[in-house]
Amino acid sequence: MDQYVVVGNPIAHSKSPAIHATFAKQTGQDMNYSTLLGEDAQFENQVRCFFSEGGKGMNVTVPFKERAYALCDVLSPRAKLAGAVNTLMLGKNGKVYGDNTDGAGMVRDIVHVLGQSLEGKRILIVGAGGAVRGVLDPVLAQNPLSVTVANRTVSKAETLAEAFGCQASSFEALEGTFDVIINGSSASLSGQLPPLKDELVGAHTWCYDMMYGKEPTVFLKWAQTLGAKGADGLGMLVGQAAEAFFVWRHVRPEQAPVIEQLRREM
Ligand code: ATR
Repeated sequence: MDQYVVVGNPIAHSKSPAIHATFAKQTGQDMNYSTLLGEDAQFENQVRCFFSEGGKGMNVTVPFKERAYALCDVLSPRAKLAGAVNTLMLGKNGKVYGDNTDGAGMVRDIVHVLGQSLEGKRILIVGAGGAVRGVLDPVLAQNPLSVTVANRTVSKAETLAEAFGCQASSFEALEGTFDVIINGSSASLSGQLPPLKDELVGAHTWCYDMMYGKEPTVFLKWAQTLGAKGADGLGMLVGQAAEAFFVWRHVRPEQAPVIEQLRREM
């Protein structure tokens, strides 16, 4: 049976095995997907070892995405743009091929699962770390009216804006209401809200948090208080998995039932 793993540290609570098991069942694929605890001093060896023992594909999660990027022999264009790799497979020639499905997974969740078009929209993206770098190109490919990256450390937003051809701003300098606000900062992890002004949210504003939780994130609670609708990033997790599944198996699983199942189990 074809073997797949997700490698990260910590890894015990990863939802990826359950997600891929459901995808495999849905699509009739004969495969096994488990977890591998990544070791700081051994990560590159663990990857080589997995493939030399016949493993078919790996997902890579925190904190190894940049190291996975560095070890690849071949990178997909979207992995190059993201500067990080979350999906690995072995090419026919024995070369390690790296891809990044995070951005495509988020956009697929927003556009196809949640039915929120980004075309012609004035979009604000909060944060300028690795998570935001990974989604900028797929968001820009949706033909939005504009994309502004706002970050506490403005220079990081400016670097991204220059690289991707969008706008950069401090939180204070943001003006007007946005059609879509995407939180890609890690503030939600520590229960914090980035310093966003209430005026940025209008009656029609739609908000998306790349983070997710059993309870609405602080960012989504803020948006709700202002009357805005939105969604958390559970669907992004499933979306990036679906994209990886497609890269490996060339079949596209259904995401919505898996999101519902995970939500019930949370
Ligand atoms: P990730 O890989 O999740 O993107 P990261 O590269 O460490 O993680 O980036 C974290 C992002 O969240 C950064 O943009 C960070 O802002 P700074 O660059 O100014 O540090 C942002 N962030 C984290 N906590 C925040 C908070 N409380 N308020 C606003 N932004 C925050």
